[in-house]
Amino acid sequence: MLWYLIITLTLALFISILGNIYLIRQAPADTPAPAVRPSGSKPAEVGAFYDRTTHQFLEVYGEVIQAFRTNNVDDYLDYTMSSAELHDGQRILDAGCGVGGPASYFASRLYVEIEGLTVSPVQVERSRQTIAARELKGTVHIQTGDYHQMQDIFGPEQFDRIIFLESFGHSYRQEQLIESAYACLKPGGILYIKDLFRREHPNTEDGAKIDAIVDGINKAYNYNVADFTSIMKAIRKLNFILLSVKTPEVKTEQFEHLTISNDFQNLFDIGKIVTWENYVFPIDFYEVKVMKPPFDINKEKHLYFLNRPQ
Ligand SMILES: C[S@@+](CC[C@H](N)C(=O)[O-])C[C@H]1O[C@@H](n2cnc3c(N)ncnc32)[C@H](O)[C@@H]1O
Repeated sequence: MLWYLIITLTLALFISILGNIYLIRQAPADTPAPAVRPSGSKPAEVGAFYDRTTHQFLEVYGEVIQAFRTNNVDDYLDYTMSSAELHDGQRILDAGCGVGGPASYFASRLYVEIEGLTVSPVQVERSRQTIAARELKGTVHIQTGDYHQMQDIFGPEQFDRIIFLESFGHSYRQEQLIESAYACLKPGGILYIKDLFRREHPNTEDGAKIDAIVDGINKAYNYNVADFTSIMKAIRKLNFILLSVKTPEVKTEQFEHLTISNDFQNLFDIGKIVTWENYVFPIDFYEVKVMKPPFDINKEKHLYFLNRPQ
């Protein structure tokens, strides 16, 4: 009887160990990779970067710190207003607002209330000048803060629009940032991200070049150039309604052609475009516009497939 018990227990132990080994071996395949890998600079490092360099950005870019732009940058801001559907009466969060160039422009055109967050105290200080220089219809309030903490700073369901204008890619927690934006949007509110996204590898050789240039951008600018597929996955996980994904629509003759950015690279000594010949584009500029459903998706299922449900 004792032998019988010992043999049974030994067998059970053996089977259990085998089972565990099997599960451990299977784990990588069964465990989904995180949608967006946490990497990139911490907000404090990004803040220190802008505290050090904002005067250089101002010299080259002026008060709108965006690489994809028009020769007359107001044309681009007009385009942004229409593309992000900014209207009178809205409460807007400009997440990563720089020195308030875009926010003060929007508020000079519209009766809106804009909250701006930048992680750089130097930019907050400088934004006072930017705001004072304009006659505003609406209001602009800019403060130092980490946009990853927007929920703690503002609370849930506060905004009609949350816009990221070439600021999203500074995030080291991009999936979490999208979740925070979802929480802070009112039902029916829109998240609008305009940024650079890592280009898909067309082939191995160009892929290696793309990765090398993107690494250079990330290092030079404390950036974490977003992966489009991962971002879309994070957005869809939350059941955002997809309104549009597109390359910004500016007229060829209005496009600034990244000339300013090219000048700027001189200051940072990275990836200057010397000639288009053999040049491999490392990134794409996209606008991603999505809406938090204005209805309870668990209850009003008849509205689920609609783009603009009423
Ligand atoms: C390239 S600038 C764009 C500024 C502005 N959107 C514009 O168009 O002029 C990036 C901005 O993102 C801000 N930023 C980066 N990481 C941030 C964070 N974690 N929280 C808040 N702002 C952040 C920086 O402080 C900076 O103002």
